[in-house]
Amino acid sequence: MTKHLAVLISGSGSNLQAIIDAIAAGRLDAQIVVVVSNRREAFGLTRAEQAGIPTLYFPLKPYKESARSREQYDADLAAQVATYAPDLIVLAGWMHVLSPSFLDRFPGRVLNLHPALPGQFAGTHAIPAAYAAFQQGEIDHTGVMVHWVVPQVDAGPVLASVAVPIYPDDSLDDLETRMHQAEHRLLVEALAQIDR
Ligand code: GAR
Repeated sequence: MTKHLAVLISGSGSNLQAIIDAIAAGRLDAQIVVVVSNRREAFGLTRAEQAGIPTLYFPLKPYKESARSREQYDADLAAQVATYAPDLIVLAGWMHVLSPSFLDRFPGRVLNLHPALPGQFAGTHAIPAAYAAFQQGEIDHTGVMVHWVVPQVDAGPVLASVAVPIYPDDSLDDLETRMHQAEHRLLVEALAQIDR
C-alpha cells in the first residue's frame, strides 16, 4: 500500500531528494503529502516545490516572541501535520527535538535519520564529532541510523543502520560526502521495509 509521508526538514533536504527520486523511480511505494520546514531558507522547500509537493513553513520564533511554550509549538505543529493525514512522519535533517506534545499525536509513527551509529554522537554535528574522534584514535568507523523517535535526542528503537568507514587521508568533506551517500540509501531502504 502506498505510504503517505510527511517529511520534516531544516536544511538542504538532500535526504528529502533521495525519497523524491526513489518514489519517481518506482523504488519506493510512497507519496510525500507535505514537506515541513522550521527555516524559511531551507533549500529542501525549493526541492519540494520543484517536485510539486505541498510545503509548510512553521517557525518557532513567533512562539518565542510571544512567550508561548515549546510544547504549544509542538502541539500546533502536530495539528498542522495531522491535517495531511500522514502514515509516517520522517525527520530528515529536522533540527528540533520534538516533545511528547508532538510525538503523542503520532504514536510509533515518527522516524528520524541520524548520521551516527546507535548510542554515538547524539545531537548536531555528529559527522565532525566522529571525524575528530577518529583523529584521536577513539573510533575506526562511524555510521548512519534510522530509528523510531522517542523524547530522548537521537535515541529510540533502531530500524536500520549501516557502518561507514573512515580512512586516514579523509578530509572532513570526504567523510561528509560518504556519510550522505550512505544516508540517502539507508533512509529509502528503511522506509521501503516499513509495513504500515
Ligand atoms: C543529515 O546528515 C541528517 O542525518 C542530519 O542532518 C542532515 C540533513 O541533511 N540530522 C541530524 O543530525 C539529526 N540529529 P539534508 O538536509 O541534506 O537531508
